[in-house]
Amino acid sequence: MNKYEIRVIVLAGLLLSVFFFAILYNDFSRNIDVPACVTYSGTYKVPHVKKLDRTTYEVYGVAKMWAFMPDDLTFPEGSTVDLYLTSDDVVHGFNIVKKGVNVMAVPGAITKTTVTFEQAGVYRILCHEYCGAGHQYMMGKITITPKKYY
Ligand code: CUA
Repeated sequence: MNKYEIRVIVLAGLLLSVFFFAILYNDFSRNIDVPACVTYSGTYKVPHVKKLDRTTYEVYGVAKMWAFMPDDLTFPEGSTVDLYLTSDDVVHGFNIVKKGVNVMAVPGAITKTTVTFEQAGVYRILCHEYCGAGHQYMMGKITITPKKYY
């Protein structure tokens, strides 16, 4: 094997190691939830929200040209939300503005991520993946109510 080929292989291996340890570092040290892909089991076909307790929720969302269902959610301040997301047609994006949540809604698959809302306010949801003529109208919102109201 040529010495340059060996150098390129070693360099590629080092780069892959850097990426791998960057993921481990973000997942464990910085507590950033890395989105997971749940094997599609057909366990939900209808979008719905499940309340587990006062500040713990599960959202089963479906993206469809050109809306998110449900598209208007309300939770109390301090809530932790497990978000399950799938698509009914094409690949859509799901970005919660100001929360650093950026996942994909993929037909035939379920994407799962967990979000905690420490601050009251209105968080917009945007589709960030071009999905057709109505893409720019595809949005939703999450309202987080202040603690004093519950
Ligand atoms: Cu859905 Cu863009």
